[in-house]
This record gives sequence, C-alpha cells and structure tokens, in this order.
Amino acid sequence: MISDETTIIHISDLHIDGLWSNRQMSTQGWQAMADALRRLHPDLVVVTGDLTTHGSCHIEHLYQAREFLDSIGVDYLVIPGNHDLSPSADVRADECYENVPWEHTRFCQVFSQSPAVARTLGPVSVIGLALREGDPDGALTGLQSALAAAPGPVLVFGHYPLRTVRTQGVLSAFGWTQYIPGTLPEFRRILKSTPQVRLYGCGHVHAASVMAITPSLAQISAGGLGPGPSQFWLYKITSADLAFFSMLAEGPPLFWNGEDLAGADPCLYNWGEIRTGRIALTPSHSSSLSVPH
Ligand SMILES: [Fe+2]
Repeated sequence: MISDETTIIHISDLHIDGLWSNRQMSTQGWQAMADALRRLHPDLVVVTGDLTTHGSCHIEHLYQAREFLDSIGVDYLVIPGNHDLSPSADVRADECYENVPWEHTRFCQVFSQSPAVARTLGPVSVIGLALREGDPDGALTGLQSALAAAPGPVLVFGHYPLRTVRTQGVLSAFGWTQYIPGTLPEFRRILKSTPQVRLYGCGHVHAASVMAITPSLAQISAGGLGPGPSQFWLYKITSADLAFFSMLAEGPPLFWNGEDLAGADPCLYNWGEIRTGRIALTPSHSSSLSVPH
C-alpha cells in the first residue's frame, strides 16, 4: 500500500568543495550520497545552508552544489549559510560580504529564489529563510507574509540555531551571535509568537540536536553532511504529527573531537542524544515534542 505520508529530508553543511584537505568527499562519494537520498523517495529535500565552503567568494562553488542537488532528481529548497552568502561585513575575512541587493548576490544568481521561500507540502507549509544582518533583503517581512498565508502547521528552516545546541565544549558558545546578532532575536520572536510553527530546522553547528524552544516549537539541527558528522534527518509527516529519524550518511562520522568537547563523549556530542521522536502537528497538544524515554 502506498503511504500517504509526506517525506522531507533535511540535510545541512555539505561543504561540497571541501572544508579542509582531509574533509573533501570524492565525486564518487557525492554520487553515492545522491543515490542514497533519492532511494528514500523524499517529496522535498531541504538544505539548511553551507552548501559550500567558498561560495560566498566564488560562484563556481555554488554551481557545484547546485549540480549535486540537481543530481538527486527530487524537488529541493535551499537556504544559504554564512559560507554561501556572508551575513555581515563584520564577520570573517574569508567570507566575502556582498553589499548588493539580494537579486545580485551570487547565491540568488545561482538559485534564483526569494529570501523567504514557501511551499505547501501535504498537511504542512514549509518556509525557508535567508537572513543577513540588518535584514537588508526583507526576509522577515517575507516570513510574516508566508506565515499569514499558511493554512495549517508550519515548518521553518534557516541556517543558524535559535539557541545553542550544547551546554559544554566549543558549541556552548558558538551559534548565531557571531553572525546575525542584531537580526536573529526578531526572527526568534516571530517564530516563538506564532504557535502554528512546530519545527525550526537549522544547521551551522555540525551537530545533530533536538530541543524544545517553546512547548509548541521544536528546534532540530542537522550534522555536517560532507565534513561530518555525516548525519541528516528523515521527516515522515501526517496530518497528526511529524516523526523524525536521524540518518547516517557517507562522510566522516564525527566532526568535533578532543579538546573541543570539554570531556563530553564525542559520539553523543556530534550525534546528540535524541535520534528519533515525534512532533505533534495538531493544535490541541500542549507540548509538541515527544521522544522516547
Ligand atoms: Fe555556517
């Protein structure tokens, strides 16, 4: 019997052009990745940023990422990370801030989309948001319009976590504050004050995590598909709930190691403690996130 579930795959931080010399997956590795993702028959693949390492400076890397995504052969929705579209002139010297309108950015030239992208998919609306510091592209206005138009539960995707994903080690102090300090608080306020938003999916931190932001809003971050931890999320959605499953992929199993972890277990630090669970999509649930105990 054909399932009436909607399937979304959430991948992040591909760094398809390699992060370091020992973190560059082969062409064959990426082909195997595309085959594996295709065989899961997703209705949509969502990519929460850092498709590349050098795309913010060199457009050819963004084209390389697009070629990979096209090769999966299914519909996809992409959000730029700081490596694809620098969020601020103040961030990092190796990321090229483009002080130009959205339409002229390298990311928009390659992916031809708005800073806020919305889709209706089965029982849910999916919104992807590209945020730069100060919101010069009007992404938050686009988000609010998309939220107002959404008839039911909404899944929002961006690059930066709304809150840190680990309480110890390097990730306890790494997140959005270094990238969009003036803009993320308003983004978070909008999501927290819109109860129909049930999931915020993100990347950036190269660590899988599941946590509650509010009783009705869960945050899920995905691993670093290319450089590690090579993890992604499978979401199976009905009108009642979204079941999530942590999936192993072709790249390195771990990204964070040794002195980064302040004594934490490397496997748990990279992969998180929650690997599967459910998020209720019906408004009657007072708490949306349920995980095995
Ligand atoms: Fe990032």
